[in-house]
Amino acid sequence: MSEPREITEPAVDSAVDAALAAFAAAADTAALKVAKAAHAGESSPLAALNAQLRDVPAEQKAELGKLVGQARGRVAQAISAREGELAVAEEQARLAAETLDVTAVPALRARGARHPLTALMEQMSDIFIGMGWEVAEGPELENEWFNFDALNFDPDHPARAMQDTFFIDPVERHLVLRTHTSPVQVRSLLDRGVPLYVVAPGRVFRTDELDATHTPVFHQLEGIAIDKGLTMGHLRGTLEHLARALFGEGARIRLRPSYFPFTEPSAELDVWHPTFKDGARWIEWGGCGMVNPNVLRAAGIDPDEYQGFAFGMGIERTLMFRNDVKDMRDMVEGDIRFSQQFGMVV
Ligand code: FA5
Ligand code: MG
Repeated sequence: MSEPREITEPAVDSAVDAALAAFAAAADTAALKVAKAAHAGESSPLAALNAQLRDVPAEQKAELGKLVGQARGRVAQAISAREGELAVAEEQARLAAETLDVTAVPALRARGARHPLTALMEQMSDIFIGMGWEVAEGPELENEWFNFDALNFDPDHPARAMQDTFFIDPVERHLVLRTHTSPVQVRSLLDRGVPLYVVAPGRVFRTDELDATHTPVFHQLEGIAIDKGLTMGHLRGTLEHLARALFGEGARIRLRPSYFPFTEPSAELDVWHPTFKDGARWIEWGGCGMVNPNVLRAAGIDPDEYQGFAFGMGIERTLMFRNDVKDMRDMVEGDIRFSQQFGMVV
């Protein structure tokens, strides 16, 4: 209970002024409720003044009663006015907070890019699809027989060491990480028969050190064409078409005599690189040749009836020539800024 005080105009006015100031200062309905209890509730100064009316002399009752009554009226009015204001403000704030802009673009995760090697393998495959060839696949974990034996690698022949191989434990299972895409030659011959025109892009593995022009995990595109009467001329024409489609009309290729157990004759396939880091020169792109009759026999095909050619080139090398990438390591680091330079098209 506040101190009982005399009902005077200044006392009433000061109680009213304090109430109005408190209501104006209340920032929300909760604060207003507290101010209302303090200035208009049972223990407020005004309630105390009102209670004192009981004790005033009869002749003053009407005048002082009116004074206190009007004061309580002004306070009640101020409360309801402030309640209205705060209710409107709070409703507006709630609506603003709940606003949902259905036209807003959602915040997407940062966009990635397809790896240029993937895009390039598809582009190279498309060039062959355009000539009526099919795309074949083979497993990365391959039987030693498909990777070597069926390709005419003699068990003891040093040619097996041409490609440094990851063998899988236990060695008695004769599984390897394929060292080239050439096993798909034999798989395609067995699965699809002849005539056969397929390319097989894919990942291969060798125990090579990572440097600017080699990686232990890289990609090749294999090609094999078997039909009646195919010659080295068809091989050369096919490779020239591929080189021009990839590197432009001025592209030049060269076939250099070489050795692979699965082709006879065999050749290294070189491309002319006018902007190579040490100056313009021929660079090895892949290997190729006429399919060795022993490979056809391994797939049950009569080499007197059907002949053909095969080739296999590195995709990383292709990207280096095509897009002037100086260091192959940039291709394997997985930095998205590398891929993004190529956008969706290589
Ligand atoms: C082969 O792998 C044969 N299978 C190619 C072939 C297919 C010959 C069909 C005849 C008929 P070679 O080991 O040279 O050949 O590899 C072919 C190409 O793969 C190379 O010219 C090169 O472009 C690429 N290459 C080889 N090793 C690596 C490596 N460590 N990193 C990146 N590219 C490589
Ligand atoms: Mg080679």
